[in-house]
Amino acid sequence: MAEETGASTPKQAEIQKVPDGIVKDISGPNIAKAISDRLTDLRDLADGKLVEKDQIVTRPKAPEDIQAQVAAFTAETVGDDYDKDHIFNNIGDIASGRLVDVKRVTNSHEYHTDENGTQIKVPEGTERTAATAEEYLKFLRSVDGSKYEPIQGRADILRAYSHFEPTIARLKDELDRVAALSKDPAFVHADVPADDFVQGFSGFEILGRGSSAHVFKITEDDKNYAVRVLRDPSKGAETIDRYVGGTVLVKGVSHFEQIVAASYKDGVTIAEIPPGKEVGGLTVEETYNVSDEQLGELVDTLIIARERGIGVDPKPSNFFYDPEDGYTIIDIDSDKERGKDHIPEGLGSVVGQVADMIANRGFYTGDNSFKSTTDFANDLPFVKAQLNVLKRYKAVVERKLDGDELQAALKKIDRDIVTEQTCVDNYSDPQWVAHTIAQGEEWMRPKADPEGWTDDDNFV
Ligand SMILES: Nc1ncnc2c1ncn2[C@@H]1O[C@H](COP(=O)(O)OP(=O)(O)O)[C@@H](O)[C@H]1O
Ligand SMILES: [Mg+2]
Repeated sequence: MAEETGASTPKQAEIQKVPDGIVKDISGPNIAKAISDRLTDLRDLADGKLVEKDQIVTRPKAPEDIQAQVAAFTAETVGDDYDKDHIFNNIGDIASGRLVDVKRVTNSHEYHTDENGTQIKVPEGTERTAATAEEYLKFLRSVDGSKYEPIQGRADILRAYSHFEPTIARLKDELDRVAALSKDPAFVHADVPADDFVQGFSGFEILGRGSSAHVFKITEDDKNYAVRVLRDPSKGAETIDRYVGGTVLVKGVSHFEQIVAASYKDGVTIAEIPPGKEVGGLTVEETYNVSDEQLGELVDTLIIARERGIGVDPKPSNFFYDPEDGYTIIDIDSDKERGKDHIPEGLGSVVGQVADMIANRGFYTGDNSFKSTTDFANDLPFVKAQLNVLKRYKAVVERKLDGDELQAALKKIDRDIVTEQTCVDNYSDPQWVAHTIAQGEEWMRPKADPEGWTDDDNFV
């Protein structure tokens, strides 16, 4: 994507071929020299003087390349959340300035661990070093600079953003307009569900609502993409990077979310829309039709995730399923970015937890308190179908895993099978259903208490 947008004229295409040389020094005071060297190279190239200069051509880095370096460094090595946030929220300035230590002044009191591992209280207004230039350079050396996949991947994604920028600007304008409309007295009391309201007035479809972002559909060059827009862009560049840091480890690998562009400043990620739909929305028939081969591919995908250090959150809202293409996992992150105390989950444990996704079509069946006889009757075919897939998942896992990993996975899968079997038995039992409904009604009934309050107050 980035290469396509970069080389629009023959001359530019030629410039792309200038060999990469020393790239490490140019983010510091050497940047002026690097730029002037580069300009000389470009003039020579244009004049036809430079054919294949020796390997020491210094190529000044684009801001996106430096942002990618700073982001990977920060995500993987800066332990403190406040420090991390500070760097990400100022990444544009930090990556374009001279290579110096990054300092910040605390704007509330904070607790930090000193060199001896003791917790200390740092008062508001204290200057703190969030990261040093030395640590940064040491990190870049240790990962071999821009050859490092997480740096290269981030740079591609950041560079690709300019292509989407006009559409994102339009989306954001529309969202601002809708936000203003929703405060207009004419609309405040309008009885419209929020999604319909936003979609109706902005013209952009909402694909999902996450904990920190809303996800919208955009179309660019006849292709649809899912755009996460942070609710509060001023405080979320680190969140954006968490999504990006996972997908750069599986660029081009099928069955994983593919983020193609992102911006820290605008607080957005732009990802391909996986085929199919969220597993929570599968019908009974679609659930039975999940094939053993697709379950096998799902386990293979989880094996890749473990090999590459990718964290998977096994909620049904993070899995898409398509009858042809099987499962795609979205909302992934990188183990390395979870801090030094994070102990990565073992393969068996992850494979086991994913049984929850299969068993639990979106937590809709979870709470029995307010269900009617019809609700239980409607849910019965779903739990039967899920039990069917769970049992086949178990058989697939037994073929793919062994030893301790298999034992860990089976412990969880077997538990889910028992739970699901119990659901099937209970939902099929009219006595159990009647008893559960009566219990729910009893719980709901307003009761006077000594203070004169009733439970009804909770439902106002
Ligand atoms: N690439 C995508 N394609 C389609 N829908 C998406 C995509 N990314 C996110 N969504 C939708 O938005 C929801 C929230 O996004 P997600 O990244 O999972 O947020 P969170 O981290 O809060 O769980 C998803 O469950 C899904 O419905
Ligand atoms: Mg999610």
